[in-house]
Amino acid sequence: MTGTLLEVENANKAFGGVIANSEISIAVPQGAIIGLIGPNGSGKTTLFNSIVGYHPVDSGSIRFQGQEISKLRGGQIARLGMLRTFQQTRIYGEMDCIKNMLISLPHRDEGWFAMFAKFPPEAIERAESILEFVGLYSKRRLLAGDLSFGQQKLLEFAMALMNEPKLLLLDEPTAGINPTLINGIIDRLKRANSDLGITLLVIEHNMRVIMNLAEHIYCLAHGQLLAEGEPENIRNDQRVIDAYLGAH
Ligand SMILES: Nc1ncnc2c1ncn2[C@@H]1O[C@H](COP(=O)(O)OP(=O)(O)O)[C@@H](O)[C@H]1O
Ligand SMILES: [Mg+2]
Repeated sequence: MTGTLLEVENANKAFGGVIANSEISIAVPQGAIIGLIGPNGSGKTTLFNSIVGYHPVDSGSIRFQGQEISKLRGGQIARLGMLRTFQQTRIYGEMDCIKNMLISLPHRDEGWFAMFAKFPPEAIERAESILEFVGLYSKRRLLAGDLSFGQQKLLEFAMALMNEPKLLLLDEPTAGINPTLINGIIDRLKRANSDLGITLLVIEHNMRVIMNLAEHIYCLAHGQLLAEGEPENIRNDQRVIDAYLGAH
């Protein structure tokens, strides 16, 4: 399919008196890497949570492959081919990397039951090849809890790939990661896009990272869409600069 994979139109979400998202509209074309930036508290994670069905929008439309999904629950949306990773990495520290990969199938719906199941050799091979893809093959038998923080982020990314998403939403994939490892993460995300054909929507706080990664960027501030455009234009947009300066 070509065209627009994900379309959010006039999404609104409030928590009590806090308006976390106000009239947000974004479009994610098939095959693209799209960035979502903005100061802390600007509503980025809230928008992700609405898109993936973690909580419903108060009003507005969310369409995935042309289908209205704003009333669907998380599991249903995952089965359509949309997955997300978390700002706080969610892995099972007491299990090895392979086991983490296996229980991420299918879409983690049956996580705790699946843990006791026998996995077919094809699934194990697939887990190994994806761990190879993200550079964790040599760590495959280590407990996930013994990996470095950056490696845990890569493992979470690998677990998402296990489910062959069409669209992957990444919440701050480089947050808290040693600067020398950040380029490795950027490289893996780019290759997931170019080699595996996965469309990416990436929340990122690090400007250098998102400028390098995204072809189009949306910037939120105070729950509203402040600006959108190509990285170069966003970098030089005075409203964006002011929003970031104002936040520090
Ligand atoms: N579950 C929630 N309950 C109450 N307030 C929330 C909840 N999630 C987010 N918020 C509030 O919504 C605003 C936007 O938060 P968030 O979407 O996490 O911002 P960002 O990810 O851009 O840092 C903040 O004021 C935050 O406190
Ligand atoms: Mg956030």
